[in-house]
Amino acid sequence: MDNIYILGIESSCDDTSAAVLKDGILLSNVTASQAVHKAYGGVVPELASRAHQQNIVPVVDQALRQAGISREQLSAIAFTRGPGLMGSLLVGVSFAKGMAAALNIPLIDVNHLQGHILAHFIHTPDDDYQSPEFPFLCLLVSGGNSQIVLVKSYREMEIIGQTIDDAAGEAIDKCSKVMGLGYPGGPIIDRLARQGNPEAFAFAKPNIPGYDYSFSGLKTSFLYSLRDWLKDDPDFIQNHLNDLAASLEKTIVDILMKKLRLAARDLKINRIALAGGVSANNGLRNAFRDYAKRYHWQIFIPRFSYTTDNAAMIAITGYFKYQDKDFCPMDAPAFSRVSV
Ligand code: KG4
Repeated sequence: MDNIYILGIESSCDDTSAAVLKDGILLSNVTASQAVHKAYGGVVPELASRAHQQNIVPVVDQALRQAGISREQLSAIAFTRGPGLMGSLLVGVSFAKGMAAALNIPLIDVNHLQGHILAHFIHTPDDDYQSPEFPFLCLLVSGGNSQIVLVKSYREMEIIGQTIDDAAGEAIDKCSKVMGLGYPGGPIIDRLARQGNPEAFAFAKPNIPGYDYSFSGLKTSFLYSLRDWLKDDPDFIQNHLNDLAASLEKTIVDILMKKLRLAARDLKINRIALAGGVSANNGLRNAFRDYAKRYHWQIFIPRFSYTTDNAAMIAITGYFKYQDKDFCPMDAPAFSRVSV
């Protein structure tokens, strides 16, 4: 039987990425990040889509070269259809459609969030990463989402809890912006927190029913506390940077873990996975390991390069859909908002 080669394309936010899979195994995963947003303290949608336009051809070209295949060998093209920034999505969507039409091969649309979850099934020729068995729970935490997803199969996923306001990464980024740190704040807070005392300060924790999250109250409490402390000491932030970062991080991790533990207990599931950009966070990873010991969880934490936005996760989702012949029409539009 012929080999199945899938090209994956991701352009939902500020990373242009392309990846190639051969029979479900990752051959290449090339990502161009966009430094242009740093000066603005956040992603500027119009600049993001322009940068995608500049990057997409060389990124796809490099992914094919690294995989050692020609575009004529491709079996199908999988692309992120949404959710994400509309202008950014349109670049990847249009490129994927154009290339699939030119090569006369199927198009496969991928939900970005489903891609983050199926990142647990990415394998390179020589890795020993153990993918979770179904069903499992996945804590999906990124700049735009915080969800607890019950993953029943590659296709069947159910969101059982999600944020009713800010996402966890968004809250970290906004608090770090208030402290005058760079963008994105997540990795900076992570680094500072390692030197700080997580018990130094207490911030508000939400009290909402079920498995849903809320982070806007914490953000407000952080802001108001800072305002009061700065009245007495204009250098308060500088003098307590590590402790502030550590306390903020701990509060967010506690909020995330509490609901996850509740869901795992109620659903009697002990296979627990982590996904999305915030899963790079050291405090969250440690909490996962800690809960694994305490509650006998089998935990799954993907490699860092597969937790942030990447095309490998889009390609693997595309590979599963390819096997189901779940293709998408040429006129399928991008969508900016939706859940799994
Ligand atoms: O999944 P992702 O790459 O894309 C978006 O949803 O935008 O997640 C990005 C988010 C940002 O909020 C970033 O600050 C956060 O992930 N992040 C982190 C860390 N690395 C990235 N948050 C905490 N600790 C980190 N080490």
